[in-house]
Amino acid sequence: MSDVILVRGGAPLNGAVEVLGAKNAVLKLMVATLLAPGRHVIENAPNILDVEIMGRVLDHVGASCVRSGTTLTIDVPEDPIPEAPLDLVRQMRASILVLGALLARTGEARVALPGGDDFGSRPIDYHIRGLESMGAVFELRHGVLYGTAPDGLHGTEVFLEFPSVGATENLLLAAVLAKGTTTIGNAAREPELTDLAEMLQKMGAKIDGAGTSTIEVHGVGSLEPAVHRTVPDRLEAGTYLVAGAITGGTVTVERCRPEHLRMELRKLADTGCVVDANEDSVTITGPDRPTAVDVATLPYPGFHTDMHPQMVAYLSVADGTSLVTENIYAGRFRYLGELNRMGADIHADGQHVVIRGVDELSGCEIDGCDIRAAAALTIAGLRADGLTTITEAHHVDRGYDGWVDKLASLGATIERA
Ligand code: UD1
Repeated sequence: MSDVILVRGGAPLNGAVEVLGAKNAVLKLMVATLLAPGRHVIENAPNILDVEIMGRVLDHVGASCVRSGTTLTIDVPEDPIPEAPLDLVRQMRASILVLGALLARTGEARVALPGGDDFGSRPIDYHIRGLESMGAVFELRHGVLYGTAPDGLHGTEVFLEFPSVGATENLLLAAVLAKGTTTIGNAAREPELTDLAEMLQKMGAKIDGAGTSTIEVHGVGSLEPAVHRTVPDRLEAGTYLVAGAITGGTVTVERCRPEHLRMELRKLADTGCVVDANEDSVTITGPDRPTAVDVATLPYPGFHTDMHPQMVAYLSVADGTSLVTENIYAGRFRYLGELNRMGADIHADGQHVVIRGVDELSGCEIDGCDIRAAAALTIAGLRADGLTTITEAHHVDRGYDGWVDKLASLGATIERA
């Protein structure tokens, strides 16, 4: 029963919430610590399941990761064990990032192939190809990827087929300790990646161009431990804004970086929301009924794929028909059936989602599916008539610290059963 969220729709959300550091940044910062022995401190770390899993990955490698409030203290040994255990890697795809760091630090890495969200095929060919061009050799045996760098890693020019966040990060983590200069072309430009680069720079890495599509890394012989504060979570912020918007209430998200949500805020404004963004907070007032809009997910600074389910839930009650085009993950649609069970009128055709806005949703029992889907379904439940029961709600714990409590503090009628 701990896996169930109960939400009774109808109450407008009002008030303010603070967001913590970004899940998609802190996991990489934790991996970055493996590049230098000694004590690292990561601040503003959300207390979410994925961080706990990454902590266990670090423990296995021989590091120790201790949480005090929102601060992680990570002690990294001189000789890390270059292995990420199967049971943990399978639970969280981001574990694959230890590959680049361990290869760079120890010359070898044994990493089980990743699991993570069920978004269809999520390959790691760009990671492998890039690391191979830096001198790594890989072999896949019994579901475990064995990597070695017999002559160490060396700088090279890598041009990514797609600006993959994970591949850019893996190559960055490997390049900082490689011999010579590595250039990553068509690199991802996500703020979480820039945050990783900033922590690596504090550790002594020489990196130019993070946040642009060409990153140049001049390898150094060794790195030092660092203290770093995680960039605020734009996805957590955006999710509370959509939650406020669908209820027609007024919600302020504090301690965030609205400039990282430019496209999402623009689209919300297009639906009739009043959006007031400041340097580190944003206030939204939702319309009585949103106006339909079209959205296409794209790499940053485009509309984030991880805001797609929340936006679809919101647009399900819009006046008119919206078209949401998913350009990053073709398989991200399992939750649509759950929204339709609530009375939404949505269908997917290839990568396109057609949403014919309905007057109202009605609560029922639905399956949480994955992190963002579970959040999106909760958001739908906030607007729905009657009680919505979200089973498999543990997915939300992978990405949202205090999801139910924060929504309740805004006036939602919500509880964890
Ligand atoms: C990261 C985020 C995830 C977000 C995604 C896109 C973390 C922990 N996760 O995931 O929440 O949805 O960025 O913003 O930060 N691809 C390949 N081959 C590869 C690598 C990727 O084909 O080697 C494809 C993927 O299948 C996908 C696209 O490239 O279609 C983008 O994936 P990528 O940017 O790598 O996402 P992740 O880093 O896995």
